Amino acid sequence: MSVIDGGMKLKYLFKRRTPSTFKPVILVTGCSSGVGLALAQMLHKMVQYRVVITARTSSLAHLSSQFVSDERFWIRNLDVTSHSDRVELIGEIERQWGGVNILINNAGITYRAVLEHMTNESEHHQMETNYFGPVELTRLVLPNMRKVGRGKIINVSSVSGMLAMPTLASYSASKYALEGMSEALWYELRPLGINVSLIQPGFINSKSFKNVYYTDKSKPDAEKDGVYVDYYTNLAPFIEKLMGASFTTPQSVAKKILKVIQTEKPPLWIPATIDASIFYYLRRWIPRRILLPLLFTMLPKSRKWGATYTNRRRE
Ligand SMILES: NC(=O)c1ccc[n+]([C@@H]2O[C@H](COP(=O)([O-])OP(=O)(O)OC[C@H]3O[C@@H](n4cnc5c(N)ncnc54)[C@H](OP(=O)(O)O)[C@@H]3O)[C@@H](O)[C@H]2O)c1
Repeated sequence: MSVIDGGMKLKYLFKRRTPSTFKPVILVTGCSSGVGLALAQMLHKMVQYRVVITARTSSLAHLSSQFVSDERFWIRNLDVTSHSDRVELIGEIERQWGGVNILINNAGITYRAVLEHMTNESEHHQMETNYFGPVELTRLVLPNMRKVGRGKIINVSSVSGMLAMPTLASYSASKYALEGMSEALWYELRPLGINVSLIQPGFINSKSFKNVYYTDKSKPDAEKDGVYVDYYTNLAPFIEKLMGASFTTPQSVAKKILKVIQTEKPPLWIPATIDASIFYYLRRWIPRRILLPLLFTMLPKSRKWGATYTNRRRE
């Protein structure tokens, strides 16, 4: 065997061995409950990955009590709205493991309020958590992904990022923002070998319905502005019922995310529940000027919404 042949063989062996010995680093946000927790449970058993699961300080003890942390599986504090938390954690991962290879922006909150009942503070909280946090984390992990020449950004969006719903204007806006950003990023990163995917769940059968945020004016026990009373009283039980009837669990959404992690070239849009697939195609096949009035009539008692409003324009 010539020296050149031997060199080639060594190079080939090295190339072949690299993927099997390399353990990609996965960072998941919002792991204290729901989809994030289900994904953390799955990744805990997968020794082929190095994993960082995260939660806010208030949920960290609860999260730590459920997992054994070791040199391959870290549990860390990360409030996605905190610039210093974001920078510190990505810095630590870079120092110890060279950087993040797969970022999963899962943490999210939902404000339930008609737009008139939102405040500047609640609008900022909604966007900081669902949009600005993921955006800065993405910016922080990209230099390493570019250096390595591959990587994945997986953003957990929602059906509300395809179709907005009443009493969820700000939540929908945050998910539309995430969708727009991810779509542009898909073009920017495609030539660099980095994948961008949007997981789009619809209704998930989980307790996350109870985790919604309210403003002072939209709280269930608040004395609401008469005009909007029917919106809240009809929509809340309707959504709760649909979530309860959904076949999709946090585990099934987590499995979809796992599939994206394991797929060489995952697509950008990934509807993650049956209703999400239906809405995905409805939005494409039916013009919005027809779809929106149609959906409006399907909302519970929507014809009666605003019945007490006396200044109505005659149509
Ligand atoms: N549930 C649904 O029906 C549904 C439908 C469509 C899309 N989604 C999306 O799916 C994702 C996961 O939701 P889920 O259903 O699993 O809801 P969930 O059970 O309420 O979980 C949300 C997670 O985000 C975390 N979180 C909230 N604010 C945070 C912050 N500032 N920093 C770090 N973590 C924060 C929460 O942690 P704490 O314990 O600290 O609050 C919690 O672990 C979200 O992006 C959501 O918008 C959910």
